[in-house]
Amino acid sequence: MVMHGTDLAIRAEGLRKRYGDRHALDRLDLNVPTGTVHGLLGPNGAGKTTAVRILTTLLRFDAGRAEVAGYDVARQPEQVRYRIGLVGQYAAVDEILSGRQNLAMFGRLYHLPGRVADRRADELLHRFGLADSADKPVGRYSGGMRRRLDLAAGLILAPAVLFLDEPTTGLDPRGRNEVWAAVRALVGAGTTVLLTTQYLDEADQLADRISVVDAGRIVADGTPDALKSRLGGDRIDVVLHRVDDLPEAATLLGRITDGPVVRDDDNRRVSAPVADRIGTLTALVRGLDERGVAAENIVLRRPTLDEVFLHLTDADRESDERDREVAR
Ligand SMILES: Nc1ncnc2c1ncn2[C@@H]1O[C@H](COP(=O)(O)OP(=O)(O)O)[C@@H](O)[C@H]1O
Ligand SMILES: [Mg+2]
Repeated sequence: MVMHGTDLAIRAEGLRKRYGDRHALDRLDLNVPTGTVHGLLGPNGAGKTTAVRILTTLLRFDAGRAEVAGYDVARQPEQVRYRIGLVGQYAAVDEILSGRQNLAMFGRLYHLPGRVADRRADELLHRFGLADSADKPVGRYSGGMRRRLDLAAGLILAPAVLFLDEPTTGLDPRGRNEVWAAVRALVGAGTTVLLTTQYLDEADQLADRISVVDAGRIVADGTPDALKSRLGGDRIDVVLHRVDDLPEAATLLGRITDGPVVRDDDNRRVSAPVADRIGTLTALVRGLDERGVAAENIVLRRPTLDEVFLHLTDADRESDERDREVAR
């Protein structure tokens, strides 16, 4: 079925994919409005690549339905392919060829006339800050440069929907920043992007909305800020002088906050979410004092994205969680 007039670039409903008796996708739903960046965020093995391969027509699925750019992925795969770009987890570029030669080669693979392919290659090299290195063999590019070349290759045909599967995995911080800048630039040009990542800060930086995926299904969905505030606002950290004081401090923190209290013995630290910042801080200082427990540092802070992620994906791993938690 063709969905004319839809403002969803990607729409997936109840997608299932099984390998043997293992569900790689277990009724996955996804809605991505046109012109937005959507982050599909989840740990290794969550099903991100499986979802991308299905949506890009490279993999058959067992149940559910999916439309990309208004076309049914299962029934109109060629229409879908015509409108998408895919940048995979692993580079597809040739190391011996230069950046320019690689892009020109992709252009010819897509049947662009030679001169059009060359012009497109030049345009993309400029856009991704690779013009100065255009004629160097790709084998001599840095990680960040190579990934930007991957992005450029995915954009040869100016796709309506671009799929980026873990575009910065394995890059150093500088390379990640370069790729982030490149993604922002192409989003400014109106491309819809589905980006998979294991990194919360990456989704936070790039995505308008995030779907958190775990074990083949969406466990949470929303803007980065909404997801962060679901953890209950700020957190308080207490770093102690003596590791022996940890149980006492954890009990106290459990009493004056809504918990759960997370105990980190290696760093002599206990931590909990707080609603009432100043009230909690006051009660904490007084309580520690009464118990003769010396604190080295007390910090009120925003939750890290890792804490949000743990909170969201831990529902089915409660025994692990219990190991880390003490008094509530
Ligand atoms: N070709 C395959 N054969 C069997 N199992 C697979 C295959 N591809 C993926 N899986 C399994 O499906 C699950 C999801 O994998 P994947 O989509 O690659 O996750 P992610 O990209 O989030 O790391 C994993 O448990 C993985 O082991
Ligand atoms: Mg993957």
